[in-house]
Amino acid sequence: MRIESLNLANFRCYESFSLELPAGLSVFQGPNASGKTSLLEAIMLLVTGRSPRTNWSREMIRWGTQQAQVQGVFVRRDERRDEVQVTLSLSDRAEVEKASLLNGAAPDSVAQLLQRLPVVIFEPEDLQLVKGGSSERRRFMNLALSGLRPLYLDDLLRYRRALRQRNELLKQTWRGRASGEDLAPWTAQLVRTGAQLMADREWLLQQLAPRAGLLYAELSGDAEQLELTYRPRVEAEEGGLPERMQAFYEALEETEEMDLRRGATQVGPHRDELVVRLGGQRARDFGSQGQQRTAALSLKLAQAQLLAAGREESPLVLLDDCLSELDDDRQRHVLELVGQFDQILLTTAAEPPVRAEGHVVRL
Ligand SMILES: Nc1ncnc2c1ncn2[C@@H]1O[C@H](COP(=O)(O)OP(=O)(O)O)[C@@H](O)[C@H]1O
Ligand SMILES: [Mg+2]
Repeated sequence: MRIESLNLANFRCYESFSLELPAGLSVFQGPNASGKTSLLEAIMLLVTGRSPRTNWSREMIRWGTQQAQVQGVFVRRDERRDEVQVTLSLSDRAEVEKASLLNGAAPDSVAQLLQRLPVVIFEPEDLQLVKGGSSERRRFMNLALSGLRPLYLDDLLRYRRALRQRNELLKQTWRGRASGEDLAPWTAQLVRTGAQLMADREWLLQQLAPRAGLLYAELSGDAEQLELTYRPRVEAEEGGLPERMQAFYEALEETEEMDLRRGATQVGPHRDELVVRLGGQRARDFGSQGQQRTAALSLKLAQAQLLAAGREESPLVLLDDCLSELDDDRQRHVLELVGQFDQILLTTAAEPPVRAEGHVVRL
């Protein structure tokens, strides 16, 4: 999949901007604050419905204006075109309304876009995937799975809703304003959706771990081994969904008293961890910055490979200013690895990196 054209109106620092993009590698080069990241952010907004760098849609509307608009045309390998448009409007109450259109009509869901238009972004903040808290890695699993499994995002949203309701009822029950009976349907919903999320994450890691291991070996010249392990908060014996549900039920029963006291659910996929190890040690605690960076890169590259596997489509690859941290050898290696994909958009403040002989856009 590639993006053929991008149009911005009042998006970030762009008042009005249009761009046509060829297949293969394009390099966006310009000094700091010239709007490089904003371009990739606009593409992510089209496909994922949100910005990779902020939770506040408002930040994307050009200062002093009321409405930002982004429009792009994506072309898939079978030459089918998808036009996506996102409008962010500032309402009277300073809230932002977001409207997405896929080929002129409201998409069924965000998941529909994510699955149709596979995209992976590499950013300097990816380091947090290895260095940061477990929520960073859950977010990674969520985004990866949303693009891979048709129902994942739906399950995730239902799980979150059940969790919110259950936590609210836990507090009420503790104060004597609700009873265990009120809790039961939300617990059931939590267990159903949660068991599915855990099964999907298990599957993801089975697919991802060997790929990431190979990539790390390639990038680091076989230094130490990268291991990824899914560590669900609810351990279930090998088995299917019913076994997982059973294990989740039992775990919830065990923690119910504490849940009531704290007004929060202690176990479940909202507490999952994805453990990243290098040479047997937790990379988060023991890895050097360089090792952590390479591990994060391997995870993302593995995600891109996985998006390409099993379907006749290539993900669009966005590299935001993340090669400059790597030595020449690794830069070349990464460019070779992503070179297999149909289109790569790369931003850099420096001169285009080694051997990046692509279409250059100066900003
Ligand atoms: N909502 C906005 N309206 C106008 N300018 C903005 C807005 N948000 C950010 N900017 C400006 O856009 C510029 C470009 O940012 P960015 O895309 O991050 O540049 P780069 O990645 O090239 O360093 C910055 O100078 C920033 O201050
Ligand atoms: Mg930038």
